[in-house]
Amino acid sequence: MKMGKSVQKLLIVDDSPEICKQLKWGLSKHYEVLLAQNVAEALKLFAKHTPRVITLDLGLPPDADGATEGLRCLEQILQQYPATKVVVLSGNEDHGNALKAVELGAYDFYRKPIELAELKVILERAFHLAQLEEDNHQLQALSKGYEGGMHGILGQCSQMEEVFNTIRKIASADIPVLVLGENGTGKELVARAIHAQSLRKDGPMIPINCGAIPENLLEAELFGHEKGAFTGAVGQVRGKVEFAHEGTLFLDEIGEMPQPLQVKMLRFLQDKTMQRVGGREMIEVNARIVAATNVDINAAIKAGEFREDLYYRIGVITIELPPLRERGEDICLLANFFLNRYIAEYGKKIRGFSSAAERALCAYAWPGNVRELENKIKRAILMAEGSFLEPVDLGFESGEQAAVIFSTEKMTLKQARDRLEREMLVDSLKSHEGNIAKASEHLGVSRPTFYDLMKKHHLQ
Ligand SMILES: Nc1ncnc2c1ncn2[C@@H]1O[C@H](COP(=O)(O)OP(=O)(O)OP(=O)(O)O)[C@@H](O)[C@H]1O
Ligand SMILES: [Mg+2]
Repeated sequence: MKMGKSVQKLLIVDDSPEICKQLKWGLSKHYEVLLAQNVAEALKLFAKHTPRVITLDLGLPPDADGATEGLRCLEQILQQYPATKVVVLSGNEDHGNALKAVELGAYDFYRKPIELAELKVILERAFHLAQLEEDNHQLQALSKGYEGGMHGILGQCSQMEEVFNTIRKIASADIPVLVLGENGTGKELVARAIHAQSLRKDGPMIPINCGAIPENLLEAELFGHEKGAFTGAVGQVRGKVEFAHEGTLFLDEIGEMPQPLQVKMLRFLQDKTMQRVGGREMIEVNARIVAATNVDINAAIKAGEFREDLYYRIGVITIELPPLRERGEDICLLANFFLNRYIAEYGKKIRGFSSAAERALCAYAWPGNVRELENKIKRAILMAEGSFLEPVDLGFESGEQAAVIFSTEKMTLKQARDRLEREMLVDSLKSHEGNIAKASEHLGVSRPTFYDLMKKHHLQ
């Protein structure tokens, strides 16, 4: 929601040069005053500036004594922008026409002679109402946009569209899904969306955070236990896996799952049966697995921390959530969504982000992704004192500073060139295993030049 603090525009349509002069003199302090003396001029200025409020004299040339031109002007403007507030300025003799104008959609009328102080109050109210309606309209437009997302997951960027497409395609297939993404990118939301669109949607959706439960308790938490299975096991308890029967089991942070449990989980995936801790009975469970992790699973496999065979089972379909900083306009969309949500929740009178704040939001790198964005906005709304959220409210020292630190947009061309040059040298050296003859040939430069560049970039 862009709401700059720029001066509001007021269009005055009147064929009397004296009145134009008087109003301009009296109102220029408060508004940017635009003047038109006939319908053609008025429509031209309107199209160019779309002022929210207009004062309109009905008697315009060529029908200066009637009202046809004024009413025509009113209709044309309201047709283009029904929300425009038109205040009709009428003489005593055309009172009937003023009422007709209101019927046609004029906001109000005011009888000449003009008392500036009174007219100012009317205009102020008109601007205020226009602003309220506009905010409300934007809110509605925004909330409509959200329905375009999926089960509370907002996003319009191409990467998120792709995520939505994948979810739509795979939700009803009864196969495991692995959701990948940095912290706070919405992995759990995606898991819930998959469940909600699957044939199991009336069954349970059981989440378990494999990273949050101590290793010795996780097994019982997952598979349950029989009475006396271990000290303290006073009765039989069913685990999350069993509870997920005919539904979805959401294994969150599966990258943190200890190796022995990875083996048990694999067995469950293969046989669709499990045993409670301390039990003998093989229990059949029909559950779909959706797993999520923020660790680099391929690296974890290479490091021997995650079993490759388990990965092949759960990673049949992977959905990769992009980091927030790569989602472009979505940052703004999400920021406004959270803004409106928490304004409503905390009942604060905040009108939006200042433009410096908006710039800072877009430039920041969001290591904590959507969750961090949500938290920053929630906090800002609680703490803010002005009517616009400023960079400091969001925890940025200043909009400019955030931009300098985090955005390549703020690089000079030379900095960007140098960075690319260095990256290409490094890549080329890597792919030719340090062979400078091959690397320089690959980049199309002579060997002496290549050496010079290496020196410039402090490469060995
Ligand atoms: N695209 C989105 N639209 C709306 N809200 C979102 C979106 N993505 C995330 N959120 C919100 O951000 C918060 C974090 O989302 P979620 O818990 O799904 O992320 P996560 O990837 O599971 O995070 P973590 O790695 O920290 O567990 C939640 O409050 C969620 O509602
Ligand atoms: Mg999560």
